[in-house]
Amino acid sequence: MDLQLETAIDWTRAQDGRRLWQPSEREVDIFNGESCWQRSRLENVDVLRLSVTPTAGASIPDSFTVVASPDWSTIAQPDLPLCFEWQQSRPGRFDFYFKLARELKCLALGERFSGLNVRGQKHTLISTDSPHHHESTDAMYKSVPFLVLGSADKFYGLYLDSPAPCRFDLDSELTEEGHIELLTRRGFRIYLLGPSPLASLVQAFTGLVGRAKLPPLWSLGHQQCRWSYPDETTVRELAREFRQRKIPCDTLVLDIDYMDEYRVFTSSDERFPQFEKMISDLAAENFKVVTIIDPGVKQDSRYKQFTDGESKDYFCKTADGKTFIEKVWPGPSAFPDFLKRETRAWWASQHKFLTDKGVAGIWNDMNEPAFFGVTKILPNDLTELPDDKDQICLHEAEEGIVPHLEVRNLYGLLMSRSTHEGLLLERPNQRPFVLSRSGTAGIQRYAAVWLGDNKSWYEHLRKSIPMLLNIGLSGIPFAGVDIGGFWENALPELVIRWYELGIFYPFFRNHCALSFRGQEAFAYAPHVEESARKLIETRYRLLPYIRNLFWEHLRTGAPLMRPLMWHYSTDPIAADIDCQFMFGRDILVAPILERGHEYRSVYLPAGNWYHLETNELFEGERAHTVKMPLGAVPAFARQGAILPLAEVMQHTSEYDSKSITFHVYGEHASGSYFEDDGITFDYETGKYNEFELSFQSGEFHCSTVRREFVSSHQYRFCRVGNTFQEAITL
Ligand code: GLC
Repeated sequence: MDLQLETAIDWTRAQDGRRLWQPSEREVDIFNGESCWQRSRLENVDVLRLSVTPTAGASIPDSFTVVASPDWSTIAQPDLPLCFEWQQSRPGRFDFYFKLARELKCLALGERFSGLNVRGQKHTLISTDSPHHHESTDAMYKSVPFLVLGSADKFYGLYLDSPAPCRFDLDSELTEEGHIELLTRRGFRIYLLGPSPLASLVQAFTGLVGRAKLPPLWSLGHQQCRWSYPDETTVRELAREFRQRKIPCDTLVLDIDYMDEYRVFTSSDERFPQFEKMISDLAAENFKVVTIIDPGVKQDSRYKQFTDGESKDYFCKTADGKTFIEKVWPGPSAFPDFLKRETRAWWASQHKFLTDKGVAGIWNDMNEPAFFGVTKILPNDLTELPDDKDQICLHEAEEGIVPHLEVRNLYGLLMSRSTHEGLLLERPNQRPFVLSRSGTAGIQRYAAVWLGDNKSWYEHLRKSIPMLLNIGLSGIPFAGVDIGGFWENALPELVIRWYELGIFYPFFRNHCALSFRGQEAFAYAPHVEESARKLIETRYRLLPYIRNLFWEHLRTGAPLMRPLMWHYSTDPIAADIDCQFMFGRDILVAPILERGHEYRSVYLPAGNWYHLETNELFEGERAHTVKMPLGAVPAFARQGAILPLAEVMQHTSEYDSKSITFHVYGEHASGSYFEDDGITFDYETGKYNEFELSFQSGEFHCSTVRREFVSSHQYRFCRVGNTFQEAITL
């Protein structure tokens, strides 16, 4: 038997494998189109822009991602940073080359299953449903072609403004070279930003592609989801559990089974017979309801969304002009062509069905888009873009028909944009909440994101930190991962450890897949529930600080979760750390990431730090071994900070009636505080309050930056380690 097996082995494959690496030879440059270099300054950072059209006289397609329009001055080819060079190597491929000196770190690049430094690997950017990602996974749900390169206070940014597939080889062969292949036949632009400190670079990049507006306050609270809570009775019970057990929660999220056979913009009469009443009853208990909407529209001649979309030509097409059909949850389905303005307007208007019933926000899933029949969107060995007719389907862009791969990376962004606009149509002065799985640069203008189908594994708990840090550096502040893990059975220890970290994710949702055990905060023994409750309460106490951070993002592009090097740029130890992070400038988070551990090593940068829960003082610029029993809040406050914290609440409808306490850490401290109504856009016309706070010589001072909002809070301050709270007026 063994002998037979051995003789069946094909040794040629092994021989090929041995020869896999060859030094790459550059192909000949065949470019004979038009290109132009321009220079500008954006938010005090130098920006060079290269515009390329492969065909002379053709125009570059409109960008859906860039929103800034500074003055550009055309220049001759400048001296380029990092010895940057480019060429067209094939009709359907452009190549970019640059030097990567050993000390440069490579950051951002959107969603990568990787550590913080994405150097030493190849990264393919083609939006892909990646439900079982792991160490060898390449393409994932989001494709953000923004790379940050640098160290200490000198960083460059490279933004490739093209929705076509691209591969970043970031010195994978240790030759100190970077190489990007862009597979396209259309025109594109590339932006080189910097040099500048990391924070200024991200400020300039988010100035280029836009920032997130303030989210509705309720969306920052605890969200509970499951694929799926199958019927009305279960959803009502879920709500009852949270309120009876006094586990704070704001939002219940309905996955695909609320629909009638997965037809989008319907609800199941059988399982949700009183869908609208259920939502209003939940609203009376201060719950918001968010519903999932996937792009796939069930192919069904008796279903209005399908017949309408087909008759009005809103769907993607095949090369022979038919509606493109692929299988997803509803079976054979059509896919809205979001590149078309009319399709986006039509899709936006469909949301009235849900908003009329009281649905508060929309979750856009499967929007890479995922096709059950096409698992490998981009073959590994592809060296240039396939012919149009071989590209899954076709879209109709402003410039005419374009094949799918050329624009695939825009699909999630444009679907979220249409959804966002749909919510605004119905509620013009309410901040929309949209959650998206796919996206590209600028997705933050329309949606929060989560990082798809993770697993109830410690490895995925750990990876969530660098992954979310890179998402933040890519301009996307409102992000999280499924707390507890999506696939697999989550044991209580993991769930508690995940909540310890998750209370610091900007987007805070527990979600779990069909057929795995429930992992709600109350699904385990009473003492486990007690730990989860305390952690979720801590999240609610942090809300004023979290609101400050979103306000900071809006003005400066700063993410909420930041690598240590963001604030401690010259600290060489901080530069490599990605199992801890800064949550804003004033809180350092260092969670337990291993099963069975109670202690971990925490590196604290310069200054002194107070344990957020015990107030124990730790000296900075060194590592400490810190005890973190199950349920502990794994965070430290910076000495010199003033943190605004709220009282415990069950949901954000109670927020305005709670008092805000300014916690002063140290003898000399300063901070700021922002507040507004948390739901409308009135802050855009100046209806908000902003204060600068300081504590000096035993006295608390507050100076008003703006006071245009009437708040109902009471305010106090207290000093670290001191239970006495003094009432103050702002
Ligand atoms: C996808 C989503 C997941 C969702 C499931 C069913 O796998 O990523 O979050 O629960 O589809 O809709």
